[in-house]
Amino acid sequence: MSAKQFDVIVIGGGPGGYIAAIRAAQLGMNVACIDEWKNAQGGPAPGGTCTNVGCIPSKALLQSSEHFDHANHHFADHGISAKDVKMDIAKMLARKDTVIKQNNDGILYLLKKNKVSFFHGRGAFAKAVDGGYEIQVAGAANESLVGKQIIVATGSNARALPGVPFDEKNVLSNDGALRIGAVPKKLVLIGSGVIGLEMGSVWRRLGADVTILEGLPTFLGAVDEQIAKEAKKAFDKQGLKIELGVKVGEIKNGAKGVSVAYTNAKGEAQTIDADKLIVSIGRVPNTIGLNAEVVGLKLDERGAIVVDGDCRTSLPGVWAVGDVVRGPMLAHKAEEEGVAVAERIAGQHGHVNFNTIPWVIYTSPEIAWVGRTEQQLKADGVKYKAGTFPFLANGRARALGDTTGMVKFLADATTDEILGVHIVGPMASELIAEAVVAMEFRASAEDIARICHAHPSLSEATKEAALAVDKRTLNF
Ligand code: FAD
Ligand code: NAI
Repeated sequence: MSAKQFDVIVIGGGPGGYIAAIRAAQLGMNVACIDEWKNAQGGPAPGGTCTNVGCIPSKALLQSSEHFDHANHHFADHGISAKDVKMDIAKMLARKDTVIKQNNDGILYLLKKNKVSFFHGRGAFAKAVDGGYEIQVAGAANESLVGKQIIVATGSNARALPGVPFDEKNVLSNDGALRIGAVPKKLVLIGSGVIGLEMGSVWRRLGADVTILEGLPTFLGAVDEQIAKEAKKAFDKQGLKIELGVKVGEIKNGAKGVSVAYTNAKGEAQTIDADKLIVSIGRVPNTIGLNAEVVGLKLDERGAIVVDGDCRTSLPGVWAVGDVVRGPMLAHKAEEEGVAVAERIAGQHGHVNFNTIPWVIYTSPEIAWVGRTEQQLKADGVKYKAGTFPFLANGRARALGDTTGMVKFLADATTDEILGVHIVGPMASELIAEAVVAMEFRASAEDIARICHAHPSLSEATKEAALAVDKRTLNF
């Protein structure tokens, strides 16, 4: 049987892959997308890490646990009495699974709507052929496809500690962390990065005693220091125990749970016992089963596919996007690269602005930022002005009952161009969009300060922080 022919074959159906496939199809190309993720019934579950064990399920659990926390601790302030509030963990997990399925089904629908041929199985390079590459699909059906252009979007996997494999019972990756069937009495997380803080928050709100062990001496080193300090204060108050500067030693995984030996920042030997251990120490690019070596696709020492600024790999006609290449491991970064590559293949000038990729940590308070931090500007020798505005002085935040945190603007001292915006507080994830737009348009702080913002809204704190750059806040 002869191989099916495509203009573009995308390997991986996560946010990088399925979006690249849709954009390529929109541009008139004949496109295949191969993804191997299986749902509980063995059927296709496109959407990758993001949909199945990442962004979407974690936000579903953060929402459920936040409702529970509000019912227990904040409803009373509004005059609502809610006694004996109970959490049905099985129902919470089932709801999360429904949300995942809605997204899987939505992606299958979108691929069909855009006439992308979907193949459920593992895609691997077979060989280079005249004018393209042959890709073997191993799955429900074994097929051979030929594509003129190949986009690799195979994502990433959780990094394990050396000698401590994930069993997803006691020692959990992000996958197991999203499936814990009962609130653990004692939960330990290693790594206080994004996953550590988000998953630690979920189980702390549900009643677990949570300790996070972090190797670095500083908390959230990539975040603006002032913002990280404010966030840490809030997490301390919530009872998230975060130990910085630790060195993790032997980990024993037994029938009763896990015991973690470590040296604390003072150099003292400690042991902590836990029902569950979540290891959240970063992720590794995934090229397992891709047969990269068969065609000579170049990987770096971390296992990431080597690409240039335009996502071109070492092979002509082969591109790579998302977590499997350099840069931040974020769904929206993967999507933007997918769109840009599809446009480049079509002869257009696809572009990703790495300076305006927003980051969000969905804790309470949320942390969001775009652009450079104060410490980066100092290191780069840039002269800047800073302006902050606390949510304490924002009417909408008071009405919401959530006045933690602030908005912070950093602008060029001479031109007033916005160089970074950093938010810790309610709905920071939504507020940051205005800052991203402003920076894309190379706006000045004064531009934002002069724009009319709805009252009462949290976005007024953004306007006020922009005013603060020129030391002329109106409400503080
Ligand atoms: P992936 O989403 O990993 O998708 C790759 C797909 O390719 C998978 O479906 C995989 O099965 C498939 N695949 C791999 N190899 C093959 C093969 N050979 N053949 C066929 N298919 C293959 N990012 C955010 O921006 N916001 C968040 O809130 C956020 N939350 C997260 C929470 C958690 C717990 C985790 C773990 C991650 C989170 N991320 C978040 C990161 C985000 O999930 C990733 O950056 C994003 O999924 C990367 O997209 P991708 O398309 O590159 O890869
Ligand atoms: P991370 O890189 O955010 O944090 C890992 C943390 O573990 C770091 O603070 C690091 O210093 C620490 N660490 C590493 N090795 C250690 C060791 N041996 N002992 C103790 N501490 C150690 O990685 P994380 O949290 O695993 O998340 C992976 C990626 O997934 C993130 O970088 C992010 O790109 C993505 N993600 C994004 C989210 C979002 O956008 N809201 C949510 C969750 C994940």
